[in-house]
Amino acid sequence: MKKVLVATVKPFASEAIDHMRDVVEAAGYELRLLEKYSDKAELLAAVADVHALIVRSDQCDAEVLNAASELEIVVRAGAGYDNVDIDAASKKGIVVMNTPGQNSNAVAELTFGLLLHLVRNGFNGTAGTELFGKTFGIMGYGNIGMHLARIAKGFDMDVMGCSPTLDEELAAEAGIRYADGPTVLFSSSRIISLNIPSNHDTRGIINRELMMMMPKCPILVNTARKEIINEADLEKVLEEREDFRYAADVAPNNREILEKRFPGRVVFTTKKMGAQTAEANINAGTAAASQIVAFFQKGDTTFQVN
Ligand code: 3PG
Repeated sequence: MKKVLVATVKPFASEAIDHMRDVVEAAGYELRLLEKYSDKAELLAAVADVHALIVRSDQCDAEVLNAASELEIVVRAGAGYDNVDIDAASKKGIVVMNTPGQNSNAVAELTFGLLLHLVRNGFNGTAGTELFGKTFGIMGYGNIGMHLARIAKGFDMDVMGCSPTLDEELAAEAGIRYADGPTVLFSSSRIISLNIPSNHDTRGIINRELMMMMPKCPILVNTARKEIINEADLEKVLEEREDFRYAADVAPNNREILEKRFPGRVVFTTKKMGAQTAEANINAGTAAASQIVAFFQKGDTTFQVN
């Protein structure tokens, strides 16, 4: 009998686990759970005899993969798979998948929660500003970007997108303006949302030069990954531009310094929670379980990333 392990430091909503169990057990497999583990040794022991693994942002490195001698498939229940050592998995013939689009609306909604918090001065009762009519730049027009554009249009914002998946024609079809590269996006948008993956091409690319280009009273929101922003540059920009504000669901390593030095101008969630809604958990968790069943039963490799 195939054993499917759900290993999550940050657990899914219990309803999501119920759905996942239904899918896995209906196929005649066993669902195992390892939630809120604090020690990597627990993960290494839990993967020892499982055939499939479902993770979230959990570190799935070569040590974990090597400890899993029966493992055939890892599904990252979510979009970004920078936590999985793809090369190590490929070397071992382990299929790696993600579940694109399943949690993206939750991340898009949180982006606007962070934005409203900043433009309304942390809800402290003083006069803030509105989102209405402001230019909203989306860096990375994927599943989250599309939800952001829909919500931003509801606020009557002027939406612009920059993405390798976008051109003039596709942007026009989506009803947004096209930015031909980050320079155009950053120099034109008063508010920017970062929605690009973290990989060797994107690490640290959001630098001082780009941030300094933003028009006056800019806000940068990062719900993607902390690695894409140059943290030293971010601190410098906050120092050099008194009008610059930053919100992130992926707090930087210098979080405490920034909070202390720039109160009211930076906001960070307590822990990464963009995808932390019941709906997103159910969507991504159920998709992960279904993809595993389809892989074992039909050899279906849709959403394979390696
Ligand atoms: C993703 O890549 O899907 C999001 O960043 C959500 O990550 P999480 O599952 O750790 O909340």
